[in-house]
Amino acid sequence: MIIETIEFSNFRNYVSEATVFHEKVNIITGKNAQGKTNLIEAINLLSMGKSFRTRKESEMIRFGEVSCLVKGMFLKQGRPYGTAVELRVNGHGGGSGSGHGGGGKAHTYFVNGAEMLSVADILGGVYTVVFSPEDLRIVKGEPEVRRRFLDRGLILLRPLYYHKLKQYRAVLKSRNALLKAERVSIDLIDIYDEQLAAAGAAVMEERFRHTSALSAAAKRADAMLTDEKESIEIGYRPNIAAEKAEDAKEIFGETLRRGRERDLLMKSTEAGPHRDDLSLVVDGKDLRTYGSQGQQRTAAIALRLAEKELVRQETGEEAILLLDDVMSELDADRQGRLLERFGANQIFVTAAVLDEKAAAALGAVKFIRIEEGKVI
Ligand SMILES: Nc1ncnc2c1ncn2[C@@H]1O[C@H](COP(=O)(O)OP(=O)(O)OP(=O)(O)O)[C@@H](O)[C@H]1O
Ligand SMILES: [Mg+2]
Repeated sequence: MIIETIEFSNFRNYVSEATVFHEKVNIITGKNAQGKTNLIEAINLLSMGKSFRTRKESEMIRFGEVSCLVKGMFLKQGRPYGTAVELRVNGHGGGSGSGHGGGGKAHTYFVNGAEMLSVADILGGVYTVVFSPEDLRIVKGEPEVRRRFLDRGLILLRPLYYHKLKQYRAVLKSRNALLKAERVSIDLIDIYDEQLAAAGAAVMEERFRHTSALSAAAKRADAMLTDEKESIEIGYRPNIAAEKAEDAKEIFGETLRRGRERDLLMKSTEAGPHRDDLSLVVDGKDLRTYGSQGQQRTAAIALRLAEKELVRQETGEEAILLLDDVMSELDADRQGRLLERFGANQIFVTAAVLDEKAAAALGAVKFIRIEEGKVI
């Protein structure tokens, strides 16, 4: 799968732009703050319908404007495939008329020109994997960052997971609202607990399965990056005491029952997959606590490589690789092995200053120079 062209208007610091890409290597250069990462973000937006940088969609609309449009043309198994995302500052313009009430929808997604009902409908069409320095937070950051990594990877591969997660969050929200009520009906909590255990188990089942596939793939990627010197293990750490997917529903139900008094006191649901985590271990040591800077970076890249491999395994597609500022963080050996690995894919690499040797290693390339939100 490759992206052939992108067009956008009023996206971040771009006013209006249309660019043709190389089918293999695209190197995006330019000084700091010119729009390199913005371009990577736009390509990723066409596959996920969301930004990898922010949860606030309106941030992507150029300052002072009320809407933006990003449109991409892809080649998917030799056939043209197009996706587009239109974002609006809330309340501006009705778009295609399917908005709610007065405000109108803040976003519209298109596949091959047809408007989609929800973001879930563009998922699974185009696969991209972004590597960014922010990925280090997956290794070093709070559990929430790892959950987001897990969820996004799963959503990319299984659009249905998006609905499962949404369902869980909706029931959780209702249960929390109930716990905050003046008088709580025990019968009602029973019903919510049952629903939450079922919805939560559906989420945990997917996470169990995905993590074990991810761990195997990350182990291979890490061995490749470190020339077999290190071995990484990724483990799913569900917040409840379930050790396998089959037990998740029962144990979650039981945990909710046992924690009910406390939940009523705290007025929120303390246990459940909204508190899950991943463990990252290299050579028996927890990476977050004991990993060196280089080991942590290597692990972050191995996680992304693993995601990419799972895309290939589960869909047969080669994801488009978007490498934002990551090469500069690796030593020459690890850089070389990474680039070798990417030989067959369409790849985008951003760099403030270009490393000639690394570029030469990539072979046929297109250089895209960016200055103040313009391709020059
Ligand atoms: N909504 C927006 N409207 C206008 N400009 C924006 C918007 N969002 C971000 N920008 C601008 O885009 C620029 C940053 O672009 P980007 O992050 O792509 O830089 P970059 O080329 O990747 O730089 P670096 O090399 O530092 O990573 C900033 O100057 C920022 O102010
Ligand atoms: Mg950048």
